[in-house]
Amino acid sequence: MINEKHTEVFKTLKTPFYFYDMELLKETLELYTSYIKRYNYNAHYAIKANAQPEILHLIQKAGLGADCVSGMEVALAVKNGFAPSKIVYAGVGKSDAEIKTALKAGIYSFNCESAPEIKVINDIASGMGKIAKISLRVNPDIDAHTHKYISTGRQEDKFGISPWEFDAVTEMIKGLKNVKLIGLHFHVGSQITDMSVFQLLCRMVEQLQRWFIEHGIKIENLNLGGGLGIDYQNPVKNPIANFKDYFEIIHKNLIVRPGQKIHFEPGRAIVGQCGEIISRVLYVKIGQKQKFVILDAGMNDLIRPALYQAHHDMENLTSTGKLTKYAVVGPVCESSDVFTKSILLNQTQRGDLIAIHSAGAYGQVMGMRYNQKPLAKCYYSTDKRFCK
Ligand code: LLP
Repeated sequence: MINEKHTEVFKTLKTPFYFYDMELLKETLELYTSYIKRYNYNAHYAIKANAQPEILHLIQKAGLGADCVSGMEVALAVKNGFAPSKIVYAGVGKSDAEIKTALKAGIYSFNCESAPEIKVINDIASGMGKIAKISLRVNPDIDAHTHKYISTGRQEDKFGISPWEFDAVTEMIKGLKNVKLIGLHFHVGSQITDMSVFQLLCRMVEQLQRWFIEHGIKIENLNLGGGLGIDYQNPVKNPIANFKDYFEIIHKNLIVRPGQKIHFEPGRAIVGQCGEIISRVLYVKIGQKQKFVILDAGMNDLIRPALYQAHHDMENLTSTGKLTKYAVVGPVCESSDVFTKSILLNQTQRGDLIAIHSAGAYGQVMGMRYNQKPLAKCYYSTDKRFCK
């Protein structure tokens, strides 16, 4: 978390930028891996959440594998030291070139999302003289009770293979020589804080894998995906996700058969709370109905509020003035470039530094250059200038 020493250095830096608390990331990883070890589970970090090399380095060192959704992510994972034997690769639209990249790397599992994809993987693997290990990403038709844009396990979502396709897909696989079915994969959504969703997922996993067992198909691997949410309302009070309840609920509800390996793909819960955006106030504008704080950071730096109506807590690092209600907005020419319509900040003026919390996941990595803005830089708490 940000301290006064950090703020003094921030004052000398060009804004906006991302700041990563690497001590918090380490602490989060220590707790996470303690549960993984306790229950003998396997974890693959969802690289899409944050792919900064320094962050990948810590996560890889902590022993996690990588969960990728493009050939470029697979290549990045390999480049950053993740063992191919710990890389899994999902995504509804794997291109031929991406499939080749993953086959060359020798990844652990292609998490396949449709019958035609499996056929293409088989044909490309055949051409390369390889056997591709595949898992079926199953769409269990579960509502994750999260924002509709980050729900992935309902029937209307584009992800996964539906149970009514099992017969045809497994028959097809039997006739393919260059793919080997090694497991089932699930990922029903993101920012899930209602733990009963994971309980329901465990029940569905059991119900669905029984179909395979009854058809004489051994399921060596069960991958439950990611999705555990973080506390966007109170990040300072709850800087680490509720791993305890999450793993307890999984351990209690998931039936694991002898020899079966259980996998997870956490993204947000690992990196979400360790990132902040540090931004300068350009103007305070007094409107008819509210006071606008206009920042130099915008939706080009953090798109989550505009895209998912996400709340990110904020703090004025340079004011102790009386708490005042503001709308906080960015400079981009879009009406949706609003971080919040109403938040209490210490009385704010031009030049103040505002921290936008919980921006470590799906923040910098979703940055864009709209309005010709440059991509934000980032700094790490381990940087010498913060440690003096
Ligand atoms: N596994 C798969 C197959 C996924 O698609 C995802 C995320 C994860 C794991 C990691 O989920 P997490 O543990 O981070 O919830 N941009 C959105 C989130 C999109 C999530 C995409 N898939 C946001 O900012 O909320």
